[in-house]
Amino acid sequence: MNPAPNLVLVGPMGAGKSSIGRRLADRFGLQFVDADSYLEQRTGASISAIFDHVGEAGFRERESAVLAELLAGNGLLVATGGGAVLAAGNRQLMRERGFVVYLCAGVESQLKRLARDRSRPLLQRGDREQVLRGLAAAREPLYREVADLVMDTDGLTAVEAATRLALRL
Ligand code: S3P
Repeated sequence: MNPAPNLVLVGPMGAGKSSIGRRLADRFGLQFVDADSYLEQRTGASISAIFDHVGEAGFRERESAVLAELLAGNGLLVATGGGAVLAAGNRQLMRERGFVVYLCAGVESQLKRLARDRSRPLLQRGDREQVLRGLAAAREPLYREVADLVMDTDGLTAVEAATRLALRL
């Protein structure tokens, strides 16, 4: 297992960060934290409600604060939100305080995995495929920049992906 203090999963919505992360954390005895769920617990508000009340910029501030708080600790496996890599400071922190894995997925897989999801505000902004393609174009270079390791989750179940990833850590 890599000696970094924490393991950090980055990648787009529907890449499997939470489902794979949970399984991986079990195997390595790390504490799993989903950064979005943590923020929801802390604020008592859903991600959608946070977007509604303080906008995306307000959400991003809170997302960065949560990340800084979590990565100050050790032994965590943190599943980040898909846009957490947007801030340069977050990317720097991830690299300083973690081993960063980019879980990538094609838009078709994302659409399938998110088919029934109504909780992600960015997907309510228009045609889902267009939204996801736009986000991928803007963020793919950032995911690659921050990553120590890249793994494609297309066509894999969470168990398969966790097994494969565990072999590479
Ligand atoms: C977002 C991804 C979501 C959540 C929020 C914004 C994004 O997290 O943070 O809806 O900007 O891509 P997941 O990647 O866990 O779905």
